[in-house]
Amino acid sequence: MKLTRAGVIGWPIGHSLSPAMHNAAYRALGLDAEGWQYDASAIPPDILKKSIKEFMMHGYVGLNVTIPFKQDVLKFTRPDAIAQAVGAANTLILPRNQSTNTDVAGFMNDLKAHDVDVADMKVLILGAGGAARAALYGLYHAGASVAVVNRTAQKAQDMIAQVGVLAAVKTHDEALAWQPDLIVNATSVGMYPQVDDAPWPSELALPDAAVVYDMVYRPAKTALIQRAEAQGLRAIGGLGMLVRQGAAAFEIWTERDAPIDVMFAAVQAELNQDK
Ligand code: ATR
Repeated sequence: MKLTRAGVIGWPIGHSLSPAMHNAAYRALGLDAEGWQYDASAIPPDILKKSIKEFMMHGYVGLNVTIPFKQDVLKFTRPDAIAQAVGAANTLILPRNQSTNTDVAGFMNDLKAHDVDVADMKVLILGAGGAARAALYGLYHAGASVAVVNRTAQKAQDMIAQVGVLAAVKTHDEALAWQPDLIVNATSVGMYPQVDDAPWPSELALPDAAVVYDMVYRPAKTALIQRAEAQGLRAIGGLGMLVRQGAAAFEIWTERDAPIDVMFAAVQAELNQDK
């Protein structure tokens, strides 16, 4: 059987932007006519392992994985080097029983698309969760010098040890004095509906010459981005990372170049509908 289906699994699954994004890409390349389709499934945690096996019997070549399964799937699949280092997977390739993490490629490709060359840059990551791990892995291996600020400093230390790289843990004041070239918000602070919160203390200016990258994409202009722009800094939102992590999974599964513009437009249309 030709495997021409893909989907996203989570519990609960909630409203995912991925079906609109992937199905639009299939249509743009005429893959829908070959049977390609992408859907979202809520999978109860106690049947996760069994479900992963069954999806392939139903014609699925791959799955995206979201909360709360990003770590659990590592046990039931063969994680590649990236998923292993990040400690989480967001993409499964079912015929190989393999898991990977396309958030790394999504983030790094989006920086590149914005002409941000991180080699030899001083980069400050805010946060120590899954998104921060992906950023840490990608930035370090692209030659950046990395420091981390996190509400819970110990979690930042643990993250650096797990990802297996060199990076410093700093306070906000220390990070400011370090004068980073790029600040990446990898916390969930500022995400809808807590749109007034920012992951940088209000009494402290942002570093003078930094570019600010906020992985949060909803709202498009987070409180952090507004502050950065008010201070005259360049700021980039997280929508591109979302689209490019999807594009990376699309390319693995279909072995075709992803129609990035189509995927952007589909996600944008979904977000506009929410308003
Ligand atoms: P994800 O997988 O999306 O990265 P996560 O693993 O829950 O999500 O991580 C969330 C990150 O946002 C953590 O770094 C968390 O800080 P702690 O490690 O101290 O928990 C950070 N975070 C969440 N809410 C925060 C808040 N109100 N203030 C500061 N940091 C916050």
